[in-house]
Amino acid sequence: MNYRHAFHAGNFADVVKHVVLVRILAYLAKKEAPFRVLDTHAGAGLYDLHGEEAQRTGEWEGGIGAVLAAEFPPAVATLLEPWLAAVRAVNPAAADDVTLAGALRRYPGSPLIAQALARPQDRLIFCETVEGVRAALAESVGRDGRAKVLATDGWQALQAYLPPKERRGVVLIDPPFEQPGEFQRMAEGLIEAHRRWATGIYVLWYPIKDVRAVDAFRREIERARIPKTLNVQFDLRAVRQIDAMSGCGLIVVNPPFTLAEELRTALSALTRVLATDGEGRLRMGWLTPER
Ligand SMILES: C[S@@+](CC[C@H](N)C(=O)[O-])C[C@H]1O[C@@H](n2cnc3c(N)ncnc32)[C@H](O)[C@@H]1O
Repeated sequence: MNYRHAFHAGNFADVVKHVVLVRILAYLAKKEAPFRVLDTHAGAGLYDLHGEEAQRTGEWEGGIGAVLAAEFPPAVATLLEPWLAAVRAVNPAAADDVTLAGALRRYPGSPLIAQALARPQDRLIFCETVEGVRAALAESVGRDGRAKVLATDGWQALQAYLPPKERRGVVLIDPPFEQPGEFQRMAEGLIEAHRRWATGIYVLWYPIKDVRAVDAFRREIERARIPKTLNVQFDLRAVRQIDAMSGCGLIVVNPPFTLAEELRTALSALTRVLATDGEGRLRMGWLTPER
């Protein structure tokens, strides 16, 4: 296993995933009652966009870089704001003006985004099995009594930490997709986790490369008949080759009732900014009907 998210941090797929995550966290934070975040594949938490890995691919320039260079209508800007505030928070030089893409140096991963939106009463569990990455994660999370950084395998965490005692919250399942069978593991992980905790919000990220594998995965989720399952598909370009990512998708179980509409607004605007050749499109639909 040699996946390193540092090559991809802040790319279009991170943007899409983190916008979805932030809208869910913003919804959870509207009520005083505490919530739990379980991030099963947490990554390093903070990424140096000027570092060797990020510079080698330059992927962030077409992701967070393109977002910062764009202008959005107020309705979209409002939806993006909590995420951009988390980006500003790790870029002190950009604190006054986040449109200054030149001041962008670091990009927060899902754990730091969760930390930014969590209140004192909320609890956060971050699992990361790669030792060096986990050490970086612990450092970027810092001393935070709300958060635990664990070496627990993310798939096992779905059994060990669900249901959480808060009985509300979100589970982010974001594996590297470098090993065969990841789609299958993810479908099984969701089905098992949902059996333990049927009312939790689940967010599963997946790459769109091999469209047949994606279709099989979605059919498997459909067969499980988990109610209220939304599929969000963000195509950056038409599929041309099986080994290149043409887009990404997210399965969201039990989305807040506001989410589909918010994503339609925010992600449609982002297709125009992130997909520069006009081939980008957003597709959203219920895999199982709302009930
Ligand atoms: C796509 S990255 C996570 C990105 C992060 N969720 C974010 O949005 O910023 C996947 C991470 O999972 C870690 N990982 C791989 N297998 C794992 C496992 N079985 N359990 C927990 N973490 C794992 C990898 O080392 C990698 O850092």
